[in-house]
Amino acid sequence: MSQLVHHRAQWKTHIGFLLAAIGSAIGLGNIWRFPYLCYKNGGGAFLIPYFIALFIVGIPLMILEVGLGHKMRGSAPASFATINKHGEWLGWWQIIFVMFGIVLYYSVVISWCLNFFFFSFNLSWGVDPNNFFFKDFLVVSSSPLNIGDVRTQILFSLTIVWFLNWFIEFVGVQKGLERANKFFMPLLFILVGILVFWSLGFPGSKQGLSVYLKPDFSRLKDPRVWIDAFSQIFFTLSLGFGIMIAYASYLPKKSQIVKDSIVISFTNCFFSVFAGLGVFSVLGYMAKATSQPLEKVVSQSLGLAFVAFPKAISLLPAFSHLFGVLFFGSLVIAGLSSSISIIEAFTSGIVDKFHYPRRVVVSVLCVAGFSGSIIFTTQAGLLWLDIADHFLTQYGLVIGAILECLLVGWFYRTQRLREHINNISSLKVNRGWDFSVRLLIPLVLIIILINSLIKEFSSPYGGYSVLSLILIGRDWLIFTLFLALIVAGRTWKIEPHTRLQH
Ligand code: ALA
Repeated sequence: MSQLVHHRAQWKTHIGFLLAAIGSAIGLGNIWRFPYLCYKNGGGAFLIPYFIALFIVGIPLMILEVGLGHKMRGSAPASFATINKHGEWLGWWQIIFVMFGIVLYYSVVISWCLNFFFFSFNLSWGVDPNNFFFKDFLVVSSSPLNIGDVRTQILFSLTIVWFLNWFIEFVGVQKGLERANKFFMPLLFILVGILVFWSLGFPGSKQGLSVYLKPDFSRLKDPRVWIDAFSQIFFTLSLGFGIMIAYASYLPKKSQIVKDSIVISFTNCFFSVFAGLGVFSVLGYMAKATSQPLEKVVSQSLGLAFVAFPKAISLLPAFSHLFGVLFFGSLVIAGLSSSISIIEAFTSGIVDKFHYPRRVVVSVLCVAGFSGSIIFTTQAGLLWLDIADHFLTQYGLVIGAILECLLVGWFYRTQRLREHINNISSLKVNRGWDFSVRLLIPLVLIIILINSLIKEFSSPYGGYSVLSLILIGRDWLIFTLFLALIVAGRTWKIEPHTRLQH
């Protein structure tokens, strides 16, 4: 047993851990999803529920995950199994549906970004980026059950993405994850900094910014705005993914749990708000250049990055290729630093339980992940992605987090974790945190869940057939749950509680 603790990987530096955790949090969601949600939900007024969600759910849950991983010195399954052997399945379920669900399509979106990175060199999307993206590039099929062919250029870039995932993971925690993030994160900040300051100077940027930041407080009455804010906080901070638990398990004994959790959360949210300035300046420019109202140029979710942005890039009077290269390059970097963290959360779980060699686990996992991603490179890929994303994030992450709070709050008792955190952190948490974890967060998330379910039953999501929603959405959750129960039933090579750090 002492050998096991002894051999656990550790971050080489504190900043290495911080950058890796920030790298996991900052992802594709920050650059295209946040600005769009802001626009859709009342501009600057959205920042109110967003920051309320950050304070009520985001930061307390971040402290919980970082504190738990540090205390238990293990992945999500090992940590939950230590609390209660009946809780182990929850950790497996989280990392299984994230690894064999979210990261499968997430890596395909990174591969689209990689394709668009190269398209930027000669603005291959031409005069009609909408047609280009949906009809020429994705060749979207008529329904999710009509799979069609694999898009070879997407498959090709996907191979590169999985190779990079594999390579970084294969090299290890210090030499792979830590080094990659030490390179990726400063580069990402520089690239996005250049893009934002560049776009602030575009004609029309002020109109764009006023739409982004001008609050429409009447929107706050709509529960959907609050649901969007809470789910965005969740996804953007990589909470409920098992990532922060695994990352914190590689921290040294003396660590700053509370300060680090706050730094990770704030850096991520500040980055989103900052990137939004650039996105809306560009949209403002496009509205001016095409003499259209801004509402007409803002596209929904994925369309913002792959349709509206290419359109705007083509309209730029100078260095448009460079702008495209920087924008899609930033998305690739932001995406990769998140996808490797998902793979790490799973790897850590398998290594903890079965003690297989890390490099073998990573290699098998990346081949399996690549193979699983292929379905999203088909003509039905976009539709599968939409359905899987809806179910895995709105239900998987939320249900997982509710159970996580209940397990830690009521079975382990927050007070014990709080004592551990306060013993080593200079910044302390008080009893308000216990209240949040035990009651407030589960309650808020249950309300969100009920609202989502009501919406689900009132009309089929996205207008898809009920059969495809059941097969691709609901059954994905059920199947991964089934797998989690099977893995949780296997015996541990070394009992998980023996790794406890007092
Ligand atoms: N936190 C990551 C993102 O926002 C998963 O994309």
